[in-house]
Amino acid sequence: MTMELTASPSNVLCNEHSGISEHAAKEIGVSLAALLADLFAVYVKTKNFHWHVTGPHFHDYHRMFDEQANQILGSTDLVAERARKLGVPALKSISDIASKQRVRDNDDAYVPAPAMLSELQQNNRYLAEQMRGLHELCEELSDIATAGLIETLIDEAEQRAWFLQASQAMPSG
Ligand SMILES: [Fe+2]
Repeated sequence: MTMELTASPSNVLCNEHSGISEHAAKEIGVSLAALLADLFAVYVKTKNFHWHVTGPHFHDYHRMFDEQANQILGSTDLVAERARKLGVPALKSISDIASKQRVRDNDDAYVPAPAMLSELQQNNRYLAEQMRGLHELCEELSDIATAGLIETLIDEAEQRAWFLQASQAMPSG
């Protein structure tokens, strides 16, 4: 006797853990996966700069980059697990990240410290901008929990951008 594989709650995409429709979950899931890929890209870049920064402000920047990288890494788990609560896939590999990331890597042999600050500031502003768009989508689709998570992550990205900008500011007068 052969077993017939039929659709069942265990082998179809479902979102039984949330009150969000399957259509809405899939739409939000695409944005969450892209955001997750960007967070990993900015995480690796921030670590890259933590390891390679040089100059008179080495210690301060080295430390700030590490604190920011840790914060970003923490947010990746929250975003991935939010996707799973919606019943949609999170990312699965480095190649999955590379295929979805919108933030560009920086493989330059040498990056001056001021350029590191400027690039990460732009990247974190970009993350905040993308998350504001995702927040609007969540409101349209009544996904309050994802919207709430995103609000916290926007605040964190804006704080990182502020610290990076303030570190570049020239003294006035
Ligand atoms: Fe370190």
